[in-house]
Amino acid sequence: MDLRGVRHLAIIMDGNGRWAEARGQIRSRGHRAGVDAVREVVTECARAHLPWLTLYALSTENFRQRPSLEVHTLMALLRRFMINERPTLMENAVRLVTAGRLHELPPRVLAEIRRTEALTANNRGTTLCLALNYGGRGELVDAAQAIAREARAGRLNPEDIDEAALAQRMYCPSMPDVDLLIRTAGDLRVSNFLLWQISYAEIFVTSMCWPDVRRPLLEEAFGEYARRDRRFGGVQGGGAAS
Ligand code: IPE
Ligand code: IPE
Ligand code: MG
Repeated sequence: MDLRGVRHLAIIMDGNGRWAEARGQIRSRGHRAGVDAVREVVTECARAHLPWLTLYALSTENFRQRPSLEVHTLMALLRRFMINERPTLMENAVRLVTAGRLHELPPRVLAEIRRTEALTANNRGTTLCLALNYGGRGELVDAAQAIAREARAGRLNPEDIDEAALAQRMYCPSMPDVDLLIRTAGDLRVSNFLLWQISYAEIFVTSMCWPDVRRPLLEEAFGEYARRDRRFGGVQGGGAAS
């Protein structure tokens, strides 16, 4: 698979519920089917040597507002994923990291996440960042609090607070800016995902629901990305003004 220059791919994995409902099944069946899509996408990206892949698995709003039975199912699936996928992550040299307010997750789920993070910490292939109990605004609030604490302690001058200082206080300071943002299931919104990091991301929306996503969809999105002209506020083609 040709990444066409994408270094950081971020995906809003949406539509599990609609996928299940279209089949007359309960929503949880869609989440279960979604795990197969996660496995394939992670493996394909790792084989293609993608440096960074961020998957939006659970927003703070999902965690707070979904029915408790659905949240319970998601937690159980997450825990099983952490245990079952360790061999696949290791075979593909994937390093797992996380972003979000992880401390609010159930302890037995968090423990398996921490074990998988520790096991894969020295892998040198794709970094897989799972956004869990994640909110883009919450991430900015947490960064602002960290900065305020350092300023109060006299370790940081307000004049020294610049974009780099904020970037260093995001959940994953080493996360590069997003090149390509994919959203499945057709909705045209960012739903509080990576607000800081998507400033100049190219956006690709597909009507396909997440459980149906496989390699061809990734190839389509990378192909579309290659046809975009990323100007970053400059002029077309990125050349000097004439
Ligand atoms: C995405 O699918 C998975 C999570 C948000 C956890 P949804 O559960 O949002 O599915 P739809 O959008 O209701 O179809
Ligand atoms: C975004 O999907 C969150 C994840 C995919 C984890 P939602 O289903 O929560 O988004 P909205 O509610 O349709 O904006
Ligand atoms: Mg949804």
